[in-house]
Amino acid sequence: MTETASISIDGKTHEFPVITGTENEKAIDISKLRDQTGAITLDPGFKNTGATQSAVTFLDGEKGILRYRGYPIEQLAEQSTFLEVAYLLIYGELPSATVLEEFRKKIDRHTLIHEDMKKFFDGFPSKSHPMGQLSCLVGALSAFYPESLDPNPTEEEEDLTIVKLLAKMPTIVSWIYKKSLGHPVMYPRNGLNFVHNFLNMTFGQITEDVEIEPEVVSAMHKLLILHADHEQNCSTSTVRIVGSSNANLYASISAGISALWGPLHGGANQAVIEMLENIKNDGGDSAKWLAKAKDKNDPFRLMGFGHRVYKNFDPRAKIIKKACDDVLERLGINDPVLDIAKELEEAALKDQYFVDRKLYPNVDFYSGIIYRALGFPTDMFTVLFALGRLPGWIAQWKEMRANKEPIGRPRQVYTGSVIRDYVSIEKR
Ligand code: SDX
Repeated sequence: MTETASISIDGKTHEFPVITGTENEKAIDISKLRDQTGAITLDPGFKNTGATQSAVTFLDGEKGILRYRGYPIEQLAEQSTFLEVAYLLIYGELPSATVLEEFRKKIDRHTLIHEDMKKFFDGFPSKSHPMGQLSCLVGALSAFYPESLDPNPTEEEEDLTIVKLLAKMPTIVSWIYKKSLGHPVMYPRNGLNFVHNFLNMTFGQITEDVEIEPEVVSAMHKLLILHADHEQNCSTSTVRIVGSSNANLYASISAGISALWGPLHGGANQAVIEMLENIKNDGGDSAKWLAKAKDKNDPFRLMGFGHRVYKNFDPRAKIIKKACDDVLERLGINDPVLDIAKELEEAALKDQYFVDRKLYPNVDFYSGIIYRALGFPTDMFTVLFALGRLPGWIAQWKEMRANKEPIGRPRQVYTGSVIRDYVSIEKR
């Protein structure tokens, strides 16, 4: 017997089926609501609206739970590698050692980008934001791989497009960074693991071999794993809705990169460091800035705090905060903004305004401090978020396609003028 929910409108009561997920989340299936009642629902920001049924990631905002394909991120962050997590998210299962090695070799074969793409890099002003470059360059990949435009690819053709994008993203990201410095780009070195190869292209020098500390490689794996997916967030929903029009993978991911750029979303990791630097330069009075964050007449918000879903702690923030201490200690770095961040967190968690609104540090609050310690400039932080989130975006896009979901097209409530006749300009 299917559980139902009743909605009464215009004196009539209608029954709608209730769907229960594998973690006992409930949803009212309103796909027939307008046909049955003539009414639609209204939910700005989709705070109460499910767009899909997905098997990729489960999170529980009240309990601070985050799992990729059922595996807790605490275990994956400690024991897995980014490429293995990418495989898990995209194909649904942890690979055997043989399958993972085959996957790595497939990736290795596609890490180069077409030499003509260098013209795109040369076209950007030297100080242009890396996220704008990344969105453009990923979208431009479709120009070099026109077969990716086929809206009905075979499974092998779709998989090749997925592998190409996964393989080329680290090369594109590292080249954006090298170009920003006016340095010569580094080419991928097959045989290095995915993350080490990325770090070598980013921090390596063509004039001499540069040793990438194992601590840096390990911290990067952890950060990328923690950013790899997060169910139906703003940028993932963007990837899904763009992909739902049968737009190719590169165009869909390019759109997701643009959505992630916003400071309320992935752009927050850059905004957090800029905020902490401002507070430091302003004398480090965290109480003053906390008061500004609470003042409705002040546009200042405590960046890296609050979350649409996590109304308890963000499990990623806890892991990143600990990694912050470990990495900075191992690298012998003392970053004063880390102390300011900890002071802000401690004060906010005791402040009624933040407690009442269930505002806790999110994934972006501490991540920038580690990125900076690893040697990345602030404007590269959100690009690193995108590099981490890529497998999640791909997994969600692939699932949306495999489930043959309809093109996304929300309805609206019209609040404009009722009908009126055109008046010629002479009579106005
Ligand atoms: C990410 O969705 C995801 O999963 C995203 C993400 C992912 O992995 O994909 O987790 C990554 O985007 C993390 C969030 C990064 N953004 C920031 O750190 C920016 C600062 N935080 C916010 O602006 C805000 O908290 C959001 C955008 C994250 C959530 O916004 P909501 O859910 O729309 O909540 P809201 O803006 O309606 O806030 C509710 C109340 C409001 O006060 P009242 O009107 O009730 O009095 O809380 C206040 C807000 O003013 N509030 C804050 C605040 N965040 C919310 N007040 C001060 N500082 C803040 N940071």
